[in-house]
Amino acid sequence: MPFPQTRMRRLRATPALRGLVRETEVAPSDFVYPMFVVDGLEARRPIAAMPGIDHLSVAEAVRETAEAAALGVPAVLLFGVPAEKDPEGSGAWDEDGIVQLATRAIKRAHPETLVIADVCLCEYTDHGHCGVLRGGSVDNDATVELLARTAVSQARAGADVIAPSDMMDGRVGAIRAALDDEGFTDVPIMAYSAKFASAFYGPFREAAGSTPAFGDRRTYQMDPANGDEALREAQLDVEEGADVLIVKPALPYLDVVSRVKQATGMPLAAYNVSGEYAMLKAAAAAGFLDERATVLEALTAIRRAGADLIITYHAKDAARWLQ
Ligand code: PBG
Repeated sequence: MPFPQTRMRRLRATPALRGLVRETEVAPSDFVYPMFVVDGLEARRPIAAMPGIDHLSVAEAVRETAEAAALGVPAVLLFGVPAEKDPEGSGAWDEDGIVQLATRAIKRAHPETLVIADVCLCEYTDHGHCGVLRGGSVDNDATVELLARTAVSQARAGADVIAPSDMMDGRVGAIRAALDDEGFTDVPIMAYSAKFASAFYGPFREAAGSTPAFGDRRTYQMDPANGDEALREAQLDVEEGADVLIVKPALPYLDVVSRVKQATGMPLAAYNVSGEYAMLKAAAAAGFLDERATVLEALTAIRRAGADLIITYHAKDAARWLQ
């Protein structure tokens, strides 16, 4: 029945009424906090394009994990910046590589906090691409072998979840098989299924020192114009054994978040990436936006679109605001 019998404003009249009919909740238990651990670093060093986020030594990463955990954030996602890079990215699967060292240290100090290890070669290769090169382009199948090796070394170091972000074809199946062969049958894979070739990764590449030395990532990451293709990527990862799917970036791709959730019914993460973070931080610093209100609104929108969990640099701040 239309107006005047139906008055939508009735249920908006008080905070209690609005609370009763609220459809979406955001909680610290939904957050994953990404951290950049740098080999050879003393203490910490700010990342210019990501105010509030620092490069961390292993000891600082342990301290940062303690803070996140105390705020109710259940998981950290580790990115490593090695002391030395080479064409294959061998630092990625080094048993004493930076992510492996940080994982061991964090798990020792905070066994209850989940350590999710990023699996990619771009932070470790001297050319900055996400895999090994052959004839000027990334060799898919050769890269998949190295990714599987990396995942196993991370699981050995104690990583609770493996998160491949490289976008090579077939890597989820190969990583699953490699983990199972080594006895890590219960370590879940959180796969970046729909990862777009996005300009919103700019600040991250500064943080990780992973800007490609030539070309771009368009031959492996997805074309931002494609939505149907994201569903095919998601389906393939499900078939290869992924346990959680990821859509990335989040805010400019909420239609993809929604479609992937509806099509697969899988546990779904959205990655609120570095550029999304930098935009709100810069606008807030300039006095153009209210940081707390815009961040909580953005995180709510990501959940409303269908994400079960959110990988976000705002995790600690948002968790504090939600206490
Ligand atoms: C690559 C990787 C990237 C991000 C996460 N993993 C960058 C890229 O693909 O170039 C971006 C995350 C962010 O922007 O916050 N391993």
